[in-house]
Amino acid sequence: MFEFVTARELYDLILGDLHAQKDHLEYVEMEGWVRTNRNNGSIGFIELNDGTYFRNVQIVYTKEETQNFDEYASLNTGDAINIMGSLKITEGGKQPFEIVASSLKLLAKCAEDYPLQKKRHSFEFLREIAHLRPKANTFAAVFRVRSALAMAIHEFFQNQGFVYVHGPIITSNDAEGAGETFTVTTRTDGDYEKDFFAKKASLTVSAQLHAEAYAQAFRDVYTFGPTFRAEKSNTVRHAAEFWMIEPEMAFADLEDDMLLIEDMVKYCIDYVLENCEEEMNFLNTMIDKELIARLQKVSGSEFAKMTYTEAIEKLKEAVANKHPFENSDIFWGMDLNSEHEKYLCEQVVNGPLFIIDYPKELKSFYMKLNPDNKTVAACDLLVPHIGELVGGSQREENYDKLVARMNELHMNQKGLEWYLDLRRFGGVKSAGFGLGFERMVMYLTGMQNIRDVIPFPRTVKNCLF
Ligand code: 4AD
Ligand code: MG
Repeated sequence: MFEFVTARELYDLILGDLHAQKDHLEYVEMEGWVRTNRNNGSIGFIELNDGTYFRNVQIVYTKEETQNFDEYASLNTGDAINIMGSLKITEGGKQPFEIVASSLKLLAKCAEDYPLQKKRHSFEFLREIAHLRPKANTFAAVFRVRSALAMAIHEFFQNQGFVYVHGPIITSNDAEGAGETFTVTTRTDGDYEKDFFAKKASLTVSAQLHAEAYAQAFRDVYTFGPTFRAEKSNTVRHAAEFWMIEPEMAFADLEDDMLLIEDMVKYCIDYVLENCEEEMNFLNTMIDKELIARLQKVSGSEFAKMTYTEAIEKLKEAVANKHPFENSDIFWGMDLNSEHEKYLCEQVVNGPLFIIDYPKELKSFYMKLNPDNKTVAACDLLVPHIGELVGGSQREENYDKLVARMNELHMNQKGLEWYLDLRRFGGVKSAGFGLGFERMVMYLTGMQNIRDVIPFPRTVKNCLF
């Protein structure tokens, strides 16, 4: 009797208990795709990947024992097959086991112009075949890490009783006020009054305002959904469509917020190191040799903290010491450029760094004004190689102050009455943050381009597939 097995099951069983296994699994059946196939005329090896596990399963066929040797030998990279054979534990070898083939069925042929041949391809090229790249090792690793990370995030929040809220994807507000929304319309004339919603609607840039409403009922909530920004920034860290996690906690301040951020980042690191061992080892070998050591260090150390004002001082010192910034015109009130952020977390602290208390002019209308009347209770978490990973803040819970700030910014209250209402109907202080999911995937995998950590990336002038 042949028992159908997956690669994950085999590796789990055999790596788990080599000897117990030998006795009760002898004949197995698998299906998957040929990664490589080579033979020397008398013995051949197929590396089969069935998608369930990062590692391949080695299939052996021999002239002596296999009747249709030539049929096996003619299989090409990419062909889908069904294979039956006997399981052989190979102690001491590179592979912990192999399958000695006894029967083969070709399920689907792969055309000869299949672009994913054995040689290494550039990430640029692989982006052009985003529909095939999950079959390449790097992407097999990255996208399984991405999946595990989503689980880690849900677990982290659910374990602490946070309620998962689904914010709307179509909305009539621009939460961040940065004017980077994509309009949702069924018209070509821009006459939004006659449009589907009888007003201008757009894709969400942040679910925060909606999350705040739910935090005032459930105390601790989080959202985790697609987010859209028509940012013209054509960088390796910006996508027009990305996923964001936005927790919101009622009765919480900025300190509570930063504790949560730090806990979450560490939880995600530990989770991925534990649950994606093969993938992380591969990434550590092929993408970034310091990846695992760096993540382990971050997981075991306390995150550094400095105020925006201190950060400006550090940057001025760096300029005085001739650090070669492209922009060395450093002054209080400036928006930090990514080279400045990089310098601060990579050179000054060499690890994750919270920058807090930014000038109010640099941040969104909803942030709580500090007693100095100049800065707001905001925090950005910067990490080496990525830059900004998280942006968070305590919210202005005082109705009058919030209205005053909106007036200062010439913001229209229309459409945001409900948000102001939250302050009138028992609204307590609250704090939250936004984690860019793709940036977290980059941080955990060592990948350097956001286009390589989201299955089908959407960026400026690019909407393929
Ligand atoms: O700093 P941001 O704009 O903060 C907010 O949207 C707040 N409403 C969050 C909150 O307090 N609830 O965005 C949060 C994070 C950034 O730190 C970054 O990691 C990511 O979202 N992000 C992007 N990721 C990829 N592509 C883009 N275009 C991104 N814009 C922001
Ligand atoms: Mg931000």
